[in-house]
Amino acid sequence: MEIRLKSARRYVEEIPTRLRVVGVWGGELTEGGQRLAAKEQITQMMDELKFRGDFAETLLLPVSASEGSEPEFVMLFGLGAKKRGVSLETVRKAGAKLVAAITKLGFKEAVTETFLADKFGKKEASYALAEGAILGAYEFKKYKSDPEVKRLRLWLARSSGPAVDRAEIVAEAVNYARDLVNEPPNVLTPAELAERARELGRETGLQVTVWDERQIQQEGMGAFYGVAQGSANPPRFIQITYKPQGKPSRVLAYVGKGLTFDTGGYSLKPSESMTTMKSDMAGAAAVLGAMRAIARIQPDVEVRAYIAAAENMVSGSAYRVSDVLKSLSGKTIEVMNTDAEGRLTLADALTYADREGAEAIVELSTLTGACVVALGQGVAGLFATDDRLGKEVQEAALRAGEKVWPLPLEEDYRELLKSTTADLKNVSGARHGGAIMAGLFLSEFTEKPLVHLDIAGPAYTTNPHSLGPAGGTGFGVRTLVEMVAPGIAEE
Ligand code: BES
Ligand code: ZN
Ligand code: ZN
Repeated sequence: MEIRLKSARRYVEEIPTRLRVVGVWGGELTEGGQRLAAKEQITQMMDELKFRGDFAETLLLPVSASEGSEPEFVMLFGLGAKKRGVSLETVRKAGAKLVAAITKLGFKEAVTETFLADKFGKKEASYALAEGAILGAYEFKKYKSDPEVKRLRLWLARSSGPAVDRAEIVAEAVNYARDLVNEPPNVLTPAELAERARELGRETGLQVTVWDERQIQQEGMGAFYGVAQGSANPPRFIQITYKPQGKPSRVLAYVGKGLTFDTGGYSLKPSESMTTMKSDMAGAAAVLGAMRAIARIQPDVEVRAYIAAAENMVSGSAYRVSDVLKSLSGKTIEVMNTDAEGRLTLADALTYADREGAEAIVELSTLTGACVVALGQGVAGLFATDDRLGKEVQEAALRAGEKVWPLPLEEDYRELLKSTTADLKNVSGARHGGAIMAGLFLSEFTEKPLVHLDIAGPAYTTNPHSLGPAGGTGFGVRTLVEMVAPGIAEE
């Protein structure tokens, strides 16, 4: 759906549209509704129809318009019970639900109040509502022969213009990341992902460098290359740099896992588990999305993005179980499972980011099924080699409304990664603590403060969710942007 948001200083009743949306919180009209001329009539109807305003429950009421003009409507939108309080997350979800409810009724224009029902200010409510609306309007119809494109112009009454602008930049970047994840893997090969990065560079002025398979080998990225060598679609190493105008306050690296498809290799996945594996580049997509927003917001932090893009396939040239790979760091790795490929590609990306001079690294990857078992589909695992950086990412995620939870890098388990043949092995052999083992493996490749976010759960969903349809969620973009350009006050 194509949605255009219009921020207005005016109240709901002052904007000339045929549909006005006002909130009902704890069974009562919120401020926007209280001000309507038809307030008495509306509250009477609410009573008669026993409209309680459960979350996202709507009631469409005709209200009297001037003689001869088209009919006008008020839509009551439920924000839930009062005892629970309205959080920014409620407002964000309301934005998404609202857009769906309005377009389902066939309206192409509407005004909604900016729900200020609770403890936060106009800026936060405007941000959350706008963000929810844009995320909720997202669709991926590119490969449909006959897509129906709906359009909506939505006025946000009494909203903060700068907050709506910022929400638009961030939500659009999340949707851009979703598009990348949703592209089929025959289209989005490593070379195509690199092409998209170049395109991003042309659009935003970000500096983009791409290495092909020859350079990857020449530079000594043997772990990354080992994973890539079985595919007819050659790998790419993608570097993107954002430099602020003046002297940067700090230099951060963002690293994203970029497996455009993961079959598992010779440690082949069962076909059921393979069905979502086009999303194995969701970390890369989140990093690209974040860079897109960062280029527009222009914070004073230098951000360097690194993506080792490859496809994990089965062929005569594919790597085997028992192969020994030499990583860029010099450490040798015995491959015990070709399906633990992400950590191999990331090992070289992390070493490179470190050597290039990043002060700290935040890395995102759809790394382990074990993390999904631990935290479920909605929450990312957070592993930090540095408490301060860990806390910083956790707080940014909280403000941005993305769910992350800390898991330990248990030092006592590190010895399980020792190999008899090489320096390390890519899996421990023990079945337990898989997400931790993967995090420990990554931590072997940089001494810099590192946060690893395992986004295997929240990156992709096979069912529609509260802020969008099934498919890529764009998880991580909001946190990565918030981290370098704080835009949302804490709740
Ligand atoms: N890409 C997968 C992890 C994954 C699983 C992402 C489910 C999203 C949803 C990763 O490359 C992988 O296959 N990991 C293995 C590791 C194991 C071999 C130690 C896993 O989780 O089974
Ligand atoms: Zn795998
Ligand atoms: Zn993978």
